[in-house]
Amino acid sequence: MEIIIKATAVEAQHEAARIIAAQVRGKAASVLGLATGSTPIGVYSHLAELHQKEHLDFAQVTTFNLDEYVGLPEGHPQSYREFMRQHLFSRVNIPAHRIHFPDGLAADIPAHCAGYETAIRQAGGIDLQLLGIGSDGHIGFNEPSSSLASRTRIKTLTPRTVKDNARFFGSVEQVPRHVITMGVGTIMDARACLLLAIGESKAEAVAGMAEGPITADLPASALQMHPVCKLVVDEAAATRLRRADYYRWVYDNKPSWQRT
Ligand code: F6R
Repeated sequence: MEIIIKATAVEAQHEAARIIAAQVRGKAASVLGLATGSTPIGVYSHLAELHQKEHLDFAQVTTFNLDEYVGLPEGHPQSYREFMRQHLFSRVNIPAHRIHFPDGLAADIPAHCAGYETAIRQAGGIDLQLLGIGSDGHIGFNEPSSSLASRTRIKTLTPRTVKDNARFFGSVEQVPRHVITMGVGTIMDARACLLLAIGESKAEAVAGMAEGPITADLPASALQMHPVCKLVVDEAAATRLRRADYYRWVYDNKPSWQRT
């Protein structure tokens, strides 16, 4: 795992956007896995800026979002589809027919989840998966105890995640209890993963994922087994990393051909 520590949240978000932009420049028809939440908002703003100012072209890009709440009506302001429309899709040129989400209103959820996996495969697989991390170590909504081989399916959020996400809904009661999420196994199938973590509230989960044991107790730790995974953090999220100095040393001494 390559660990990149940036001084500020904005710098970390710009670094993540640069990595995504390099992927799209290198392969115009990239398949991107995308995340929601507060962490990637600055990433999407920067990508929109690169689209406007530097003509970063998304015309051939295909996207698959990680997850969606179950039961929110179409257009609900807190649905992840709406989040993505607001923060990215309305600002860049990804064709609507190449944008994919789990459908939180599907009548047959298991069949829909199997279909989502098939759609990812038919698109050629995910080239780059963007991830955030929950304070409990979840990726997507693979909460602690999720199988590290899991595929797209329905999950029940932990009370902690419900509480963490209540800030978007106004109250804990309004947060749905269920989501459809790509599984850890689905995420691990991506050719490359990029996890962005910002702020002190993520420091413990970040240290566990990068330096702790690989365990379903902290699903993000499965990424230690991923051959091409970058972890981008700001200083606040890096405070619990035991080998932070070494990661900085590696980054500062990176060969120029490896830089994005
Ligand atoms: C969202 C997702 C989640 C979030 C995580 C962190 O699509 O998959 O795993 O990345 O809950 O959320 P924020 O960024 O709001 O702290």
